Amino acid sequence: MTTAVSAADTVLQQLKWRYATKKFDPSKKIPDDIWKVLEQSLVLAPSSFGLQPWKFFVVRNPEIRQALLPHSWGQKQVVDASHLVVFAIKKDVDDADVDRYVRRMAEVQGVPVENLEKFAQVVKGFLNNPPYPLDKNEWSARQVYIALAQFMTTAAMLGVDTCPMEGFVPDQYNQVLGLTAQGYSAVVVCPAGYRASDDPQAQRPKVRYKTEDVVDYID
Ligand SMILES: Cc1cc2nc3c(=O)[nH]c(=O)nc-3n(C[C@H](O)[C@H](O)[C@H](O)COP(=O)(O)O)c2cc1C
Repeated sequence: MTTAVSAADTVLQQLKWRYATKKFDPSKKIPDDIWKVLEQSLVLAPSSFGLQPWKFFVVRNPEIRQALLPHSWGQKQVVDASHLVVFAIKKDVDDADVDRYVRRMAEVQGVPVENLEKFAQVVKGFLNNPPYPLDKNEWSARQVYIALAQFMTTAAMLGVDTCPMEGFVPDQYNQVLGLTAQGYSAVVVCPAGYRASDDPQAQRPKVRYKTEDVVDYID
């Protein structure tokens, strides 16, 4: 019980501690062991049907990050942060993506691929004859945001700062990083690292609506 209470306190404390970091300390790097956990927060993110219509491009090359700066509304987080993750959707997911996933399921679960045929048909049916008007790339983008949230929350728990960013030009990122040629498209980016001690944004109180204004209990 004591453990649960202190864990709950810590979670809340870290959620309040995190903020969209405007200024990273370029000299502070995320240690490898911590990065490995953050990497797994991406790999383990849930998605609709488990399809994982995404790839996470971690831009390590400093020159490439510099080249992305003019396409990031000049936001220096993309060069100063320890790591830069570009969250991308797999464009126009189709039957081949379902087949790929089902092959992986069969491998991981140790079952013949034929046993998963019904499941594959359900997912293909959803993609090809959706039950409601469906923009598949929008749908994939929604999955990507779940991975973003899991990444940011994990980072906060580990004392790593992040800044979710839509302030960039996806087409330019796709070109600079060669994503289009690979069938992917950037949706959102997230620098991660450690805040600069003089980032004024860190001191600003969080502006949120009152709990009772955003959480409604229907009894
Ligand atoms: C999807 C998304 C896109 C955002 N894009 C940017 C951005 O391009 N640059 C930036 O500095 N902050 C960006 N933000 C940060 C928000 O402005 C910030 O999360 C919000 O004001 C709440 O503040 P807090 O995260 O510091 O608590 C973005 C946040 C989200 C969720």
